[in-house]
Amino acid sequence: MKRAVIVYRSRTGTTRRLAEEIGRFLASRDIEPRVVSVGDCDVKALSDVDFLLLGCWTSGLMIVRQHPDQPWIDFAREIPSTTVPRVGLFTTYKLATGSMFAQMRGHLAGRLPAPRLELKSRSDTLSEPNRRALERFVAGT
Ligand SMILES: Cc1cc2nc3c(=O)[nH]c(=O)nc-3n(C[C@H](O)[C@H](O)[C@H](O)COP(=O)(O)O)c2cc1C
Repeated sequence: MKRAVIVYRSRTGTTRRLAEEIGRFLASRDIEPRVVSVGDCDVKALSDVDFLLLGCWTSGLMIVRQHPDQPWIDFAREIPSTTVPRVGLFTTYKLATGSMFAQMRGHLAGRLPAPRLELKSRSDTLSEPNRRALERFVAGT
């Protein structure tokens, strides 16, 4: 069975619930998910998975200067250089994600393969387009 780790950083719960929803979606596709917060994640265990999904709430000035928050950046810095087959990013937001994914990618560059998924949601649920994007991500298409 393939395995996924979904690591999230959440302030008020939305991103955590989205991470759990992603976990349920992957489980329905016969992928064993583990959902863990950045604070509880052992970065050394990340190399031994098929899928790695990293999420953070969107922080910024609502329409500009979006970025992951400091605990997520600190977590990203700890990730050892590794070759997880497939990496995806996700975020929750209210108005605009702007530079969020570019910032996340920048913090991960050189440690992980380039992310193949950027999933954003204004809520803790997966929209149909999000489900389709996840479907393509796990299928590798
Ligand atoms: C200080 C602060 C800054 C935020 N900046 C943005 C922003 O730039 N763009 C946006 O769309 N949402 C922004 N938001 C909204 C959050 O990204 C959104 O509510 C998110 O779902 C919260 O996730 P959480 O419940 O996992 O903490 C901001 C929220 C806060 C508290």
